Amino acid sequence: MDRYVTIDPDALRPSQKYAWMIAVVVPRPIGWVTTRSPGGVVNLAPFSFFNGVTSHPPIVSLGIGRRRDGTRKDTARNILDTGEFVAHLVEHEHLEAMVASSAELPPEASEPEQLGLELVSSERVGVPALAAARVRLECRLERHIEIGDGPSDFILGRVLAFRVRSDLLAPDGSLDQARLAPMGRLGGALYAPVERRVEVARPGLPRRLEP
Ligand SMILES: Cc1cc2nc3c(=O)[nH]c(=O)nc-3n(C[C@H](O)[C@H](O)[C@H](O)COP(=O)(O)O)c2cc1C
Repeated sequence: MDRYVTIDPDALRPSQKYAWMIAVVVPRPIGWVTTRSPGGVVNLAPFSFFNGVTSHPPIVSLGIGRRRDGTRKDTARNILDTGEFVAHLVEHEHLEAMVASSAELPPEASEPEQLGLELVSSERVGVPALAAARVRLECRLERHIEIGDGPSDFILGRVLAFRVRSDLLAPDGSLDQARLAPMGRLGGALYAPVERRVEVARPGLPRRLEP
């Protein structure tokens, strides 16, 4: 007897496809993204269709859906207008604020301001960063691709600077994973705080990579 069921995405409504995608690709990292409108309004929103894509050069991706009325989300529009964004690593203590920042506000409203989140200048982009985040990726738009029926805005961003708080660094200058408290996303409204790590060396590779 076949103990698997097959779910055909083509037979699902868009909301069901979404539910399956976020339930089975887990845990996902969350990019907490600031952008700035040409008029200067700073926007903040979380994206878990977020990942590293290549390292040389370092590129991250964002998969940004459209709003119900088919219009672009503020993040996608701002990135296309200004060519810049900052993706912040979400840690345990940020969970509530990160989820609150996903509220759909009108483009003239600023989530960091409404949530009382302090902003600081970035080094290599004009978009400010969240003071509370210990890891920030300052990014420049590398490529934009419209995908699918939504369509969705798929953004590739080149990391111009890894900005890392010095208390996360090991004496050799590498990032000490034991000091990080990353928050992953699961299906539905579930999250996965990383609380335990295991180390397994790859065949033929050193345990520690060069800082
Ligand atoms: C943890 C989390 C992850 C999310 N991931 C995505 C995502 O990958 N793509 C997306 O389009 N929306 C995602 N959302 C929803 C957006 O954050 C939400 O639509 C937000 O209002 C977009 O803001 P903006 O219009 O200011 O860009 C996510 C929400 C949460 C809470």
